[in-house]
Amino acid sequence: MADELVPDWGWACILQARDAGWADAGAISFTVDGVAIEIRAGGRWRCERAVRADTVELLDLFLPWVAAPGRLAIAQLGQSLDGRIATESGASHYINCLEARTHLHRLRALVDAVVVGVGTVNADDPQLTVRHVSGRSPVRVVLDPRGRVRADAKLFHDGAAPTMHVVGEHVAPVCTAGAERVVRVGLPVGADGFEPDVVLEWLAQSGCRRVLVEGGGLTVSRFLRAGALDRLHLLVAPLLIGSGRPGLVLPAVDTLDEALRPPCRHFRCGSDSLFDLELGGLATAQA
Ligand SMILES: NC(=O)c1ccc[n+]([C@@H]2O[C@H](COP(=O)([O-])OP(=O)(O)OC[C@H]3O[C@@H](n4cnc5c(N)ncnc54)[C@H](OP(=O)(O)O)[C@@H]3O)[C@@H](O)[C@H]2O)c1
Repeated sequence: MADELVPDWGWACILQARDAGWADAGAISFTVDGVAIEIRAGGRWRCERAVRADTVELLDLFLPWVAAPGRLAIAQLGQSLDGRIATESGASHYINCLEARTHLHRLRALVDAVVVGVGTVNADDPQLTVRHVSGRSPVRVVLDPRGRVRADAKLFHDGAAPTMHVVGEHVAPVCTAGAERVVRVGLPVGADGFEPDVVLEWLAQSGCRRVLVEGGGLTVSRFLRAGALDRLHLLVAPLLIGSGRPGLVLPAVDTLDEALRPPCRHFRCGSDSLFDLELGGLATAQA
């Protein structure tokens, strides 16, 4: 139908829902472009006007966790069919199609902080800002226990969003001369690096209750292994690399009873497939 509500309308609703006070509200209603929507805590929504199928999918995908109080840690990985997130040399641009990369920017726009490991900063020199959709850029957080990040990393110098450089508490300062809007934070480092729960607790206390762990594979694997993730978005591209950096790497299990089988929803994302896994803090057998 010609006047069905389109994804841009749905996205504007999702951005409004992001900023609602879900700790107190059981439901909210508001209008976008003169069209009313009611959203219940937990994501159920209602609108009097006809909503296009792709807009329905967008609302159904994001609202269950956007319309919720409390802390949220969501991770994402864009991978090939054979589970690789980059080539051996670290090239990952681009495994995923434009729609999947747009999805990643939507995730960034819905969280307060985006976390990456130092391996990703050194390989990709990413900006970690929101560019493909409307919305504000989150605080950027680099986990770098040994202080080995490249000093010329764009996110230290572009001033595009506040940036936290998290290092081991006894690590000497990395020279990031001319850095803009960068705060350096020292956290304790144990045998397994930073404790993911400690990182998330520190972020929550800094005002970041929704956090996206964007990569790479080592970082997401550590957060998953520790049972620190509520959701994982795996964006799988119809591509076979056959070698390269793995996505998830978890401790070995002997039988498939020990493998994780979280509740899963599946969405089409251009030529890629999105698997939305509800982890709810699920930890691996050998955490
Ligand atoms: N396709 C995608 O979705 C995607 C997303 C992001 C990145 N990538 C690709 O992935 C590659 C990098 O991934 P990667 O797995 O090699 O590295 P990574 O996860 O980006 O960084 C790993 C490093 O970060 C530090 N780190 C992360 N979590 C930590 C924790 N809890 N405690 C302490 N230190 C922690 C450690 O540094 P130390 O080694 O110094 O201890 C660790 O070795 C790049 O090639 C990039 O292009 C792909």
